[in-house]
Amino acid sequence: MKYLQVRDYLRALAGSELTAGDPVPSERALCERFGVSRMTVRQAVDALVVDGILERVQGRGTFVAPPKVDLQVRLASFTEEMTRRGMTASVKVLGAGIVEAEPDIAEALQVAVGDDVIHLHRLRFADDEPMAVEHSWLPALRLPGFLDGGVPSSVYVDLGTRGLVPDWGEDTIDAGEADHDEAELLTIGPGKPVLRITRRAFTGDQAIEYASAAYRSDRYTLWVPVSRPNPPVVPRNQHPPDPQGTA
Ligand code: GLP
Repeated sequence: MKYLQVRDYLRALAGSELTAGDPVPSERALCERFGVSRMTVRQAVDALVVDGILERVQGRGTFVAPPKVDLQVRLASFTEEMTRRGMTASVKVLGAGIVEAEPDIAEALQVAVGDDVIHLHRLRFADDEPMAVEHSWLPALRLPGFLDGGVPSSVYVDLGTRGLVPDWGEDTIDAGEADHDEAELLTIGPGKPVLRITRRAFTGDQAIEYASAAYRSDRYTLWVPVSRPNPPVVPRNQHPPDPQGTA
């Protein structure tokens, strides 16, 4: 397949002659070199963008992506994720306000039950197509005036301006089925598969966000870089005995 030839050529180029930030050859040059259509070239580039090898920068072109770091990938905001894929992120706010923390939210955010938390309910779009329905909770006491100017278009950009951008966190991902409301918002049929992604994010040792989202699984691929741990993981029960006998 021609597309594979173009993809493999670009992949090899990105791994040899070019380094992060370098532009890749233009679509026209690639079409001529391989005798293929623009669509074929785009398909090859798309595959490498999804793999994190290339990145599209709006209005500037396609470049070799910087090496991905697991933590950064996992902690990317919706806006960053879509931008990395060459798409434009937008949002429709379905609800926003200050509510009293329910026990599960309080525990996730390390606040007392009943403390004020900011709740956001948002429909997220990529290139005007609905991609995900998200509920997010943030500790109101740590974010004074957060909603004063309306809901920020990117929560993480707002957190960044406060010096509170999350620096670590954890996501859990479950397979699920869209409920009636989600299906309507995502313009998919009820019961269609979604990815349920829950995030707890921290700034230093303080929990800054708890979020739960349903992503259309027909439009969203999770990209999880993996590497061999160094040193290798040892099962807990195989740790060498503590020489002091204090364990
Ligand atoms: C992702 C995360 C959410 C987070 C959001 C922030 O979608 N799963 O937990 O709230 O990014 O995105 P943005 O900064 O675009 O609002």
